[in-house]
Amino acid sequence: MQTITTVTELRSALGRVRDKHVGFVPTMGYLHDGHMALVKASRARCDVTVLSIFVNPTQFGPTEDLSTYPRNFLRDEQLCRDAGVTILFAPDAHEVYPAQFETFVEPGELARSLCGAFRPEHFRGVATVVCKLFNMVLPDIAFFGQKDFQQCAVVRRMAIDLNLPIEIVTVPTVREPDRLAMSSRNRYLNKEERLRALAISRGLFAAEAEFRVGERECEKLMAVARRHLDEVDRLQYLELVDADTLQPACSPLSQPAALCAAAYVGSTRLIDNVILSAGSEHGLRPDQTRMTLSRCDDTGR
Ligand code: PAF
Repeated sequence: MQTITTVTELRSALGRVRDKHVGFVPTMGYLHDGHMALVKASRARCDVTVLSIFVNPTQFGPTEDLSTYPRNFLRDEQLCRDAGVTILFAPDAHEVYPAQFETFVEPGELARSLCGAFRPEHFRGVATVVCKLFNMVLPDIAFFGQKDFQQCAVVRRMAIDLNLPIEIVTVPTVREPDRLAMSSRNRYLNKEERLRALAISRGLFAAEAEFRVGERECEKLMAVARRHLDEVDRLQYLELVDADTLQPACSPLSQPAALCAAAYVGSTRLIDNVILSAGSEHGLRPDQTRMTLSRCDDTGR
């Protein structure tokens, strides 16, 4: 494995493997099994896997955890080596954002609901850095975790809208044995908070179980989830949205939907989601790009 910190070096290393299929896993480091599942998915489909570690300042709000975001580069490097990553790309902020930087990628409607309603600049920062990283790595396929469902939608839309010749693959969320979705931010939780955080996945899976036995009314499914989610310190949102448009889903559910939640446990903000789809176990096909707008009729939610 090569560890590379500059774009020049990266281009020259990738120039030597241009005839190969390149997979890309963008991360902010503090790697866990969720990231490793992305590497595994990349290795299954690509000859070369590039993993980037960059804690992107433009996607953090002024009061968010940029300065305290967990970092452990040597551990991450070893994990990448063990997982068969070909190139670890770890640029510093100046390499990614040159002096006088002022050009951003502005996502649209998909970035305004769910997390976007509470983190107004977040997806602009994500889309910008992902676009820049795509331009540096020029991958054939890029891999993202389903836990960041809205991020997947925004990035997929961006790839279509900007004619980026990159397949965006969404890999199912990896969970701890007790079903807490893996996240670098889980390390902020103390023992007691870690236990209370389970209310999130408990709520989402309770609703999913109701869906599986035939419940299709949005309000009823959300009420089932809310009963558990009320145990967290502050529920920021619980929304059942159309999986393509991220607009509120309509009752009775007939299209794939995503039940998404963001909640604070102590001072830690956690997100999670489940896909409700009669189609397959994980709901969406990883390559799904359908972006039709559906509207609720008068009887819908
Ligand atoms: O999901 C993440 O870790 C980040 O949002 C990403 C995609 C690496 C962009 O900074």
